[in-house]
Amino acid sequence: MNKNKISIVILAAGKGSRMKSAKAKVLHKVCGKEMLYHIIKASRKISDDITVVLAHQKEAVMESMRAYFSDINFAIQDDVNFPGTGGAMKNISVRHEKVLVLNGDMPLVTSEALSGFLESDSEIIMSIFKLQNPNGYGRVIIKNGDVKKIVEHKDASIAELEITTVNAGVYAFSKDILEKYVPQLKNDNAQKEYYLTDIISMARAEGLNVSPLLVDEEHFKGVNSKKDLADAEEIMQNRIKRAFMESGVSMQLPSTIYIEEGVVFEGECIVENGCRITGNSRIINSHIKAHSVIEDSIVKNSDVGPLAHLRPASHIEDTHIGNFVEVKKSTLKGAKAGHLSYIGDATVDKGTNIGAGVITCNYDGINKYKTTIGKNVFIGSDSQLIAPITVQDNVMVAAGTTVRSGTINSGELAVSSAKQRVIKDFYYKFFSKK
Ligand code: UD1
Ligand code: MG
Repeated sequence: MNKNKISIVILAAGKGSRMKSAKAKVLHKVCGKEMLYHIIKASRKISDDITVVLAHQKEAVMESMRAYFSDINFAIQDDVNFPGTGGAMKNISVRHEKVLVLNGDMPLVTSEALSGFLESDSEIIMSIFKLQNPNGYGRVIIKNGDVKKIVEHKDASIAELEITTVNAGVYAFSKDILEKYVPQLKNDNAQKEYYLTDIISMARAEGLNVSPLLVDEEHFKGVNSKKDLADAEEIMQNRIKRAFMESGVSMQLPSTIYIEEGVVFEGECIVENGCRITGNSRIINSHIKAHSVIEDSIVKNSDVGPLAHLRPASHIEDTHIGNFVEVKKSTLKGAKAGHLSYIGDATVDKGTNIGAGVITCNYDGINKYKTTIGKNVFIGSDSQLIAPITVQDNVMVAAGTTVRSGTINSGELAVSSAKQRVIKDFYYKFFSKK
């Protein structure tokens, strides 16, 4: 595809009041990334001139998109005087002769799905799909095979509401068409908004051709409510997991697994049912067992879970992480933590075994501190390591020890548990049984 042929304008200025949220609609996330991120990502594959139109919460939207993309333009809509999708297109300047206009609430769109708009030379191409439930969408009025106009749901007559052919919200216009018709748009409708969709009837009235392009809901679904958001997420989840399975990742009951956009798998991996893997996690030649959660972490040549939780910035390599183990911002290489532990702000080196119930006490209520554990260390069950602390190579910590001092040197045993006493017949006396 020639990226230098088409400009893309993404409409993202609306309030999105049907989301019932203080957050701008286009910042709601689908599979871990904002809706607008997904649309820009698809757009960048086919265009080198992308403009995002903003108004509502413009600073927040700009800031979050700048974190991902440095090469997109922003335009600000005068949404007080010119509300609506037509108002959003006022005073937009683009570089190329052909302009693709996308609604900012279609996170499922892909560059492949947009290719149909690039292939035709028609002055106006509009996307349509047929829906069982067309609720909320603009209805497309077609007479004798010709598109006549788009009627918004709120303006439709009872008969028009029956129409199931709807406007999907993507259009390709020639620059001349936009320059001619956008200034002529009016707001004489139920919402008192300037509808971009009115260009269709205006152009038709002057005898211009409108080419309808049949698209599918799987790529062009608009997200207007939390229900739509959940439906879109399910579609994208299936896409993400299908692609990973095709590239060789084994998944058990994939419908119960959640994997965000940004996660990477390498080599041979198995993900069991109920797992959640998010952020920029990288899983390499590893086995993630049932119901484990991995956030923004690296797991290499390791097995994790069942029911383990790797919180952000964990790096697990050649390591066994067992059930009910929580790891945060820690690096474990060649180690074992089999059961019921919390390992936070720590490094754990090769050959070391973390016993059941061991806890790194990394927080004193004000600050966080580091725990450094060397090679071939044996930390007995139910021990607490009060950070900051360094446990050198070849150290033993007895079960039930609270390790408080700064450094345990190589070869030492740390033991703090009280000496065991045995009191004869105590049980019988206590319960008066004898
Ligand atoms: C719009 C279409 C409708 C189509 C549907 C497809 C219009 C008038 N209607 O309806 O025909 O079936 O999309 O999903 O275009 N926006 C702005 N500025 C505004 C208002 C909206 O930039 O003043 C942006 C929104 O942020 C959103 C997009 O335009 O990303 C669409 O707006 P929305 O309110 O969702 O339009 P729909 O009612 O869904
Ligand atoms: Mg919409």
